[in-house]
Amino acid sequence: MLRCLTSGGRVCPALVPPFTLSPSWILKNRTEDRHRRLTEQRWRCSVRCMSSVAKRRRSLPSAFPVLERPLQPIHQHVYEANLRNSNACHKKFIELREQVMKGGGENAIARHTKRNKKLLVRDRLRLLLDDEDFLELSPFAGLGLPYGDIPSAGCLTGIGRICGLWCVFIANDATVKGGTAYPITVKKQLRAQEVAMQNRLPCVYLVDSGGAFLPLQSEIFPDKNQGGRVFYNEAIMSAMKIPQVSVVCGSCTAGGAYIPTMAEEAVMVHRIGTIFLGGPPLVKAATGEEVTPEDLGGAKLHAEVSGCVDHFAWDEKEAYDYTRSIVSTLNFQLPEEEEEGEEKMKKRTAEEEPLYSSEDLLGLAPLSYNHTLDVNMVISRLTDGSRFHEFKARFGTTLITGFAKIHGNLVGIVANNGELSYQAALKGSHFVQLCDQRDVPLLFLQNTAPTAALTLSTTQAEMNSNRLKAQGSMLSAVACSSVPKITVVIGGCHGADSYAMCGRAFDPNFLFLWPNARVSMAAPGHSGSLLPRDSEQEEEQRKKQEDDLNRRLEEESSAFFSSGRLWDDGVILPQDTRKVLRDCLDIIRQQQYQLSTEKVQQPLLRM
Ligand code: COA
Repeated sequence: MLRCLTSGGRVCPALVPPFTLSPSWILKNRTEDRHRRLTEQRWRCSVRCMSSVAKRRRSLPSAFPVLERPLQPIHQHVYEANLRNSNACHKKFIELREQVMKGGGENAIARHTKRNKKLLVRDRLRLLLDDEDFLELSPFAGLGLPYGDIPSAGCLTGIGRICGLWCVFIANDATVKGGTAYPITVKKQLRAQEVAMQNRLPCVYLVDSGGAFLPLQSEIFPDKNQGGRVFYNEAIMSAMKIPQVSVVCGSCTAGGAYIPTMAEEAVMVHRIGTIFLGGPPLVKAATGEEVTPEDLGGAKLHAEVSGCVDHFAWDEKEAYDYTRSIVSTLNFQLPEEEEEGEEKMKKRTAEEEPLYSSEDLLGLAPLSYNHTLDVNMVISRLTDGSRFHEFKARFGTTLITGFAKIHGNLVGIVANNGELSYQAALKGSHFVQLCDQRDVPLLFLQNTAPTAALTLSTTQAEMNSNRLKAQGSMLSAVACSSVPKITVVIGGCHGADSYAMCGRAFDPNFLFLWPNARVSMAAPGHSGSLLPRDSEQEEEQRKKQEDDLNRRLEEESSAFFSSGRLWDDGVILPQDTRKVLRDCLDIIRQQQYQLSTEKVQQPLLRM
């Protein structure tokens, strides 16, 4: 059963074509094309493939055993300490969220809405997306940076549904310094594009930006992964058949002007949107001529004269309606949602929920490595029916591996339950390859040891060499596995073990942190393992050095410090993890439903 994309029942201002462009119609008109036969062959192939994909399917009934892991009195002491820490982290999370929601502050909001008559970025998303329930990426990016607090890095990114289709959005917040791009803004935009590429998601840009934040131009302009990369990615994404739509709902000055002109389709809002390389002040300085922004690069000019945009909208609401309409032209076919009675639905939901409350995760989120409880307790609070098919349960027990379902999606779970020993790493490699072989997405629950292993004897040296070899294999297995990967740092992210557990450098499709997470080479309190031993050094001096480093580790390892710098895709609350994982798995799966995904050689060029 297939469901074509529709505009979700909304009235859309776009002209409805008098005929439906069926794929066969397209093919008939391509008879002159010298690649016709090849195209046809490829198309048939992808449709055949899709029709089998798209048939209503049923996964194998789960016979996984239930993982019974209730809280025991023996856990109480550690559980309560963790809970106190989680509550403190939650408070900080709420504080930061409130700070971020205020954007550039009251004055900037008044200027944006009253003087410039524009909608706030979250109101824009409300009009663009099907509902408010979207997956926001790195909302705390930009906070606590050396150059100040940049709320949301001046740009909201995330994944939301438009006409039922998951799309990445990249939306400038012009209340933050006119939407100008700081280095962190560029980094956030590039990460969002990477998410779109890795998961083959259509991408919508809401552009309202004064271009580069000039005082930091040297950190934005020249290098490979800086400003220009956004435009480079737009071309590459188009060549990869990743659709991109741009809405000009504010200023698009200088570099920013390339975003709509390189998008495959662009909508521009009358009186609000402008596109130019140099604005009216520059024209005045250069030629002495006075020109209005509207005449220099307004929506009428670009829709009627330059052709830089394809759709003219009288107001913002109309622009988002157009965008939804454009998205509904994309060639995706989504599987029909199962229609079920309310009762049946309720029963199913009840069956699939874990046996234990997700609130328990707050007491399982470790305050430190020493406060880690059996990771099976975490797994049993995330998986459907708390079911888990464990793999190699008796071997390398400091790493737990096995299969489970999360909201009906089969995943292979790899979870730290102690140090990544020789056996644990061998088991990890085996399991990762197994999932790769079976095309099962991987979920890493990361909580790595606070320090590197010590080498105080020959036996230890031998053990560590073996461990190094096994960990090297696991790194290779993780790096080369082609299945989607999601990493959740539930405790520590320290040392090389974190790479084997699919840290950021190993390209997981998504990486989230719990608020209690710690990200640093060694955990706070373990700086001694990082400092070289110097026999000449006074004990007092050494102690001071250690204390200084520990203080730094404490400050720089917090989840919020990491997220502020975009080392992850955001901090998520432990109790929301199951829902976030459900969305991610759903998002990752969507690429199966795009028809004709053959890579083409050329991006779409605006003529
Ligand atoms: N670099 C640094 N700061 C900038 C900036 C830039 N490119 N563009 C705007 N700002 C700052 C302003 O100084 C102001 O700061 P303040 O709030 O501390 O006073 C803030 O952003 C908002 O600017 P303002 O002009 O008051 O707001 P606006 O909504 O009326 O206009 C713009 C926003 C972006 C249209 C307008 O500021 C503009 O045209 N800027 C210049 C754009 C440009 O030439 N960019 C070239 C970059 S390569």
